[in-house]
Amino acid sequence: SAADLVVRGGTVVNAGWQGAADVFVSAGRVTALAEPGAPAPDGSRPEEVDATGLLVLPGGVDPHCHVGFTSGEFTSLDDYRGCTTAAVFGGTTTIVDFAIPRPGQDPLEAVLERRGAAAQGLCDSALHGCVVTWDDTTEEQLRAMAGLGVSTVKMFTTYRGETMADEYTVLRTMKAVSATGGMVVIHCEADHIIEEAQERSGARGRTGAEHMGDTRPGLAETASVAEVLAIAESVDAPVYFVHQSSPEAVELVAAARRRGRRAYSEAVAHHLVLDESAYAGEHPERFVCCPPLRPRATVEGLGRHLFTGEISTVGSDHCCYDTAQKERYRHDVRAMPNGLPGVETRLAVLYSEYVAARGLPATRFVELVAAAPARLNGLYPRKGVLAPGADADIVLWDPAARWTVRTGDLHMATDYTPYEGRELTGRARTVVVGGRVVVRDGELADPRPLGRNLPSGPVGTLH
Ligand code: URP
Ligand code: ZN
Ligand code: ZN
Ligand code: ZN
Repeated sequence: SAADLVVRGGTVVNAGWQGAADVFVSAGRVTALAEPGAPAPDGSRPEEVDATGLLVLPGGVDPHCHVGFTSGEFTSLDDYRGCTTAAVFGGTTTIVDFAIPRPGQDPLEAVLERRGAAAQGLCDSALHGCVVTWDDTTEEQLRAMAGLGVSTVKMFTTYRGETMADEYTVLRTMKAVSATGGMVVIHCEADHIIEEAQERSGARGRTGAEHMGDTRPGLAETASVAEVLAIAESVDAPVYFVHQSSPEAVELVAAARRRGRRAYSEAVAHHLVLDESAYAGEHPERFVCCPPLRPRATVEGLGRHLFTGEISTVGSDHCCYDTAQKERYRHDVRAMPNGLPGVETRLAVLYSEYVAARGLPATRFVELVAAAPARLNGLYPRKGVLAPGADADIVLWDPAARWTVRTGDLHMATDYTPYEGRELTGRARTVVVGGRVVVRDGELADPRPLGRNLPSGPVGTLH
């Protein structure tokens, strides 16, 4: 078929393969990977995008991205337009957001309320549903959600009184979700252990942001992961653990996978790069997230699991709060909004710290940030791979770009980045979304909001 765009001269990197190839695009889809210099199909005069010296990647898929996220009295500061603009500048062309019910709201209502916002996005998006409590309508709601293409369902074992689900609810939801071909994605921190640690900190007057690490011990995470793995096994359901912050937590999941379970670990960029020393710095509140940043040895141990395949995906856990919101409860992390802005920096931080600095293969990088998140969210092979038939979401990545992270050069709706001043190697230069050049040489070239809400199919399996 006639081509309308061709990316020439670059090195295509997919999860399992890399090599020199030109990428032909027609009507928003990849039509062919051809040998360099191959002629365009008869009769077409495609726009040429020069990728000489660059890597050509499938657009990043961020499996964990909170857009305009409300928690207690705080709502994070972006909307679909803002979040996806930052995403695309950073080389991510699909985000998976969360439809978290407000107190008293049904899971299905939360999905219906949020899915329309996708149309304001510069790129496509999908949704995770969320179950907090189980009642006699929940199973039917989950079926309706699956019918709308929402097949991943978020749960929490912490945040009591807000989004925490009890073990019965986790079990029943896992059973019902897996029956529809979907999967529970879960934040594991045993709430009783967290609350005890918080109480202890409170009794000593040590609740400020500088004490964040003590208020959410790693033990709470491993305890909850072990329990949830057992629940999943008891109902033969797949399970995906979000933002795992320690090698111990990842190893529990890897052991389950070796026993034949479908159990997966997500790490997020900040736990792979930043450590608890941030809490001793000038703005400790800017680094308050759950789970907290861990000791340096934990960060290194977690990072080693990127190389072995034990970590399946890398997300951002993007939450766009600004310093004023975080500082409001500077002296009490129990009331402070949790989470760090990161949708725009996910690829560059991981590439720089692990591909450029430590030799992680670029193919593995693509697997972690695009292919595996697409598979595990039922979006593959439409997303996460450059192959005929895939959506033409293409990142021209400059592997040699040296740059310094500055908030003012980023597009996230906040006044800080946790990576301020960090020198990075590697950066998205030009980004094609649905066959259109949306970012060209670092400048916004097409601001049209043509984002689509993506229905996810049955979630895939990784080895
Ligand atoms: O600190 C975090 N992660 N905040 C966002 C909510 C969550 O737990 O994912
Ligand atoms: Zn979480
Ligand atoms: Zn501050
Ligand atoms: Zn999160």
